[in-house]
Amino acid sequence: MKVWVPRDAAAKALGAEDVVVALEAEATRRGIDLTVIRNGSRGMVWLEPLVEVEGSEGRMAFGPMTPADVAQVFDGGPKALGLTEELPWLKSQTRLTFARVGVIDPLSLADYRAHGGLKGLERAVGLSGQAIVEMVKTSGLRGRGGAGFPTGIKWDTVRQAPGTRKYIVANADEGDSGTFADRMLMEGDPFTLIEGMVIAGLAVGATQGFIYSRSEYPDANVVLAEAIRIARAEGVLGASVLGSGRRFELELRVGAGAYVCGEETALLNSLEGKRGVVRAKPPLPALEGFMGCPTVVNNVISLATVPVILERGPEFYAGFGLGRSRGTIPLQIAGNVKHGGLYEIAFGLTLREIVQEIGGGTASGRPVKAVQVGGPLGAYLAPHQFDTPFGYEEYAGQNALIGHAGLVVFDDSADMLRLARFAMEFCAIESCGKCTPCRIGAVRGVETIDRIARGDAAAIPLLTDLCETMKAGSLCALGGFTPYPVMSALTHFPDDFTATQKEAAE
Ligand code: NAI
Ligand code: SF4
Repeated sequence: MKVWVPRDAAAKALGAEDVVVALEAEATRRGIDLTVIRNGSRGMVWLEPLVEVEGSEGRMAFGPMTPADVAQVFDGGPKALGLTEELPWLKSQTRLTFARVGVIDPLSLADYRAHGGLKGLERAVGLSGQAIVEMVKTSGLRGRGGAGFPTGIKWDTVRQAPGTRKYIVANADEGDSGTFADRMLMEGDPFTLIEGMVIAGLAVGATQGFIYSRSEYPDANVVLAEAIRIARAEGVLGASVLGSGRRFELELRVGAGAYVCGEETALLNSLEGKRGVVRAKPPLPALEGFMGCPTVVNNVISLATVPVILERGPEFYAGFGLGRSRGTIPLQIAGNVKHGGLYEIAFGLTLREIVQEIGGGTASGRPVKAVQVGGPLGAYLAPHQFDTPFGYEEYAGQNALIGHAGLVVFDDSADMLRLARFAMEFCAIESCGKCTPCRIGAVRGVETIDRIARGDAAAIPLLTDLCETMKAGSLCALGGFTPYPVMSALTHFPDDFTATQKEAAE
């Protein structure tokens, strides 16, 4: 009997290890020969730990499981959900980047190959760097870390930059609140990231890559280290990638937990062993990045999307999406929501569809008050904006950003003043300290919001003025984007800022 139990951190946090122990004990008691495969998560976090059992028509899902439920895997019962692939949440997705996550054993290269893995790289080794870059450009892929810069154009800049030493860096320092796409991908299908990085290396002429991960992701780091070892042993990495005679080496580096090290230049400093402080741009990392050499710095999801583009063709990928937001996006739905998790779909869904139809509304059953999209630097969207389609330009038009596509849902009990204060406090704590509007502005921001909370209405224009200064004068997105949550909270929920004599939120 073959069963799958996720080794994903979310599933483990919800008790997957205890379920495995109970399953094995139950199988032994019944004299059944049990094979347990540790897969990634299918992304339905409310059903974790989700156990799947091999059946004649496909994999059967059981969840959410506890050790007390394991007999149902053998006898049936209320935790039996039917065929996994037929579950509506999964069936309604367009899984391109996450096609294998939850399906395969993340550390079996044979399983990876059996599910279409390495097809993109096999194609890439026969192409010139320029031809690969053109494919990525045609696909319309844009940086999934948040800024949405066209990946193909970035690669072209590095490809054409003078110099013989070039680097590929995967930014896996996923620090945004409510985001977990990078982690789920790395824990559930690490070879896709590795394959994407090797293709990037072939495209721009780089022979060395680094995955910059974070200490907060211990499970992902274990999987990545082992996947790199296997990829090297099997000739996917090393002196002759897939026997092509072309070299690509890869190393895992783990950051120490500073949010700002997700900013690409602070990341590069950290990678070089220096303090994680933001560098001024220009020069762009594409021209002077790691050790002063041309460097591609891409988010995990951007790189992990490249193999499917090479495998199925750029037109196929560009066939999904809306406007200039091509392809699919792994939405990460979190906060006060019934069905939280990862949902990959073409760009274009409205927030209302995402929160109500996919997320099932709030977990509390109360009305939705706001959704923060794009992490701690993202704007709070109010119900009158819920028909905005999910896309880079569409959100910019609402003074918002999609960022890394994390969505955090709040019900009508949320106090938007406190949330605005939290944004300023977060910036004050995480600031690298290099520039004044961020280092000092964020501290003044907390104090100013506390004044408003005490009923001082004169502090409101001061807060607006401070946000303008931070936006215009900060060196990087941390100081420059903190005004988004603050100003959106103030603009869309003014009543939360005018209640008299609020307690200072300390
Ligand atoms: P940016 O707009 O300055 O740059 C975007 C990317 O394009 C960078 O890699 C930059 O080097 C590159 N680039 C720009 N012009 C180029 C050119 N002419 N040729 C080649 N490359 C070029 O944005 P930044 O500061 O890198 O990122 C800000 C975003 O990061 C925000 O939108 C925010 O959503 C996101 N973010 C994501 C987090 C996460 O956990 N994923 C955490 C915090 C912020
Ligand atoms: Fe550092 Fe903040 Fe300035 Fe960014 S905005 S460089 S985090 S001080």
